[in-house]
Amino acid sequence: MGRKDHGARSVSSTACLLIPRPLMSAPSDKPWSGVFDGATDPRVEKFTESVSFDHRLYEQDIRGSSAHARMLASVGVLSDEECRQIVEGLEQIGSQIAAGTFVFRQELEDIHMNIERALIEQIGDVGRKLHTSRSRNDQVSTDFRLWIRDAIDRLDGLLVQLQRAFVSRCERDQGVVLPGYTHLQRAQPVLANHYWLAYCEKLERDRTRLDDCRTRVNQLPLGTAALAGTSIPIDRQMVADELGFEELVANSLDSSSDRDFAIEFCFVLALIAEHLSTWAEEWILWSTSEFNFLRLPQAYCTGSSIMPQKINPDVLELTRGKTARVVGNLQSLLVLVKGLPLAYNRDLQEDKERVFDSAETVEACVGLAAAVVAGAELNRKAIAERLEQGYLDATTLMEYLIGLGIPQRTAHGIIGSLVAVAMKRGVPLAELSQAEFQAAHEALDEKVFGVLGVERAIEAFSSYGSTAPTEVAKQVAMWRERLQIQVSS
Ligand code: ARG
Repeated sequence: MGRKDHGARSVSSTACLLIPRPLMSAPSDKPWSGVFDGATDPRVEKFTESVSFDHRLYEQDIRGSSAHARMLASVGVLSDEECRQIVEGLEQIGSQIAAGTFVFRQELEDIHMNIERALIEQIGDVGRKLHTSRSRNDQVSTDFRLWIRDAIDRLDGLLVQLQRAFVSRCERDQGVVLPGYTHLQRAQPVLANHYWLAYCEKLERDRTRLDDCRTRVNQLPLGTAALAGTSIPIDRQMVADELGFEELVANSLDSSSDRDFAIEFCFVLALIAEHLSTWAEEWILWSTSEFNFLRLPQAYCTGSSIMPQKINPDVLELTRGKTARVVGNLQSLLVLVKGLPLAYNRDLQEDKERVFDSAETVEACVGLAAAVVAGAELNRKAIAERLEQGYLDATTLMEYLIGLGIPQRTAHGIIGSLVAVAMKRGVPLAELSQAEFQAAHEALDEKVFGVLGVERAIEAFSSYGSTAPTEVAKQVAMWRERLQIQVSS
C-alpha cells in the first residue's frame, strides 16, 4: 500500500497531509494501516517485532503460502496465472533470504509480513490477494508446526545416531564388567553392554515420545483464519495434503490459541536433555582420576588457561549445564499460556525463541554426544583391578542361600553379617574361610565358592531384562538388527 493511498483516504481534507513524521514510520507502511491515522512509535516497533528471530520460519512460510496460493487458484479465488506469479515470486524471495541478500524490515514486524510485502513489491497488486481467507494467526501456527515437524524429523535422526554409537560400542566392550551403583555406592556387577543398552532404552522412549508429539503437531490450522474461520469457499484438505499434514484442526477458536504442540515438543526436548545430562554426569565422574574408568576423546575436551595438565570434560559439562535452559524454556511456555483467554493473544509471539532455543540446544547436545560415545575408551585394567572391592557379589550370595530354602529376610541377615566380618578383615567375601561361612549357616558348604567373585556373580543372573550375559547378548542382537549395525567379527 502506497503512502498516497492512505493519505487520500483518511486525511484528504486536511492541510497537513504531507507533513513528515520524523522517526515515526507512516501508518501506511503497515499492512494493517487502514484504521490508523497516526504512526507507530519506533519503540513500539522495536518492542513488538519478531522478525529478528522468526526469520527462521521463512522456508516454512514460503512452503505454506505457496500451498495456500495453489488452493486459492483451485477454488477460483486466483487465476492460474496469478497463482504462478505468486508462487514464483515467493520462490525468488526464498532464494534471496537463503542467499542473505533479503533486507528484513523491523517495522513490518515479522517474517510473514516481510515476505508478503516483498511479494507485493515484486509482483504488484496480485500479491495483495495472497492473504485471502487466512490471518497471521493461522499462518504463524502453520509455519511453526511445519518448523517443529522438520525439527522432530532431524532430531529423530540424531537420536538414532546416538543409539548406534552406544550399540556399536558393544562389540569392543563385550565381556567387560563394571560396578553398578545405587546411591552412587557399589551395588552389583553389570556388563558394560548392559549400561550402553540402558541409554538406548531411554533414547528409544524419547523417540516414541517425539513420534507421538508429531501426530499432534501435524494438524493443519491454515484456513481457520483469525479465530472464526472464513466465508470464502476454501479447500483446507487440499492444503493439508500438499503440506503433508495428517489432519485438519477442527475448531478455529481452539487452534488460534493452541500452543500445546509447542509445549509438548519442549517437554520431549527437556526429557532428552535430562537423559543426556545424567549420562554426562556419569561420564564426568567416570573420567576423574578417582574413578578412572573412562578416557574421553581429546577432540571433545578442552584445557585450562592456567593449569597445564588439565584435560577437562567441557562438552559433557555443558551438556549437563544446557539442560537448565531447556528445562527453563519449558517452564516459560507453561507460564506463558496459563492466563490466556481464547483465542489469539500477542503473548503467544513469545513462544518461538523458547522453542528454537530448546531445539537447537538439544540437537547440538545429541550430535556431540554421539561423537563422545563413539570416541571414549574404557580403562579395562583399572576397572578390573578394583572390581572385587565393594562386595558386588553379596546379593548373588544371598540369592544362592535363598535357593537352598532360606527365607529372604533371614538370608539377607546372614550374608550381611558375613560382609561385616569380611569388611573388618578388609578382604572380599571369596577370601573368607569355609569355616566362617559354615559358622554363618551350615548350608554354606564349599560349593559357596562357586558363586563368589564378580565374574561368577554375573554368570548367576538369569531373569529377563537382567545383566545376565545371555540376556544382554540377546538384547544386543535385537538392537543391532533394529539399528542395522553390522558386526565386524
Ligand atoms: N509475529 C506474530 C506471532 O508470532 C504474528 C501474529 C500476529 N497476529 C496478530 N493478530 N497480531 O505471534
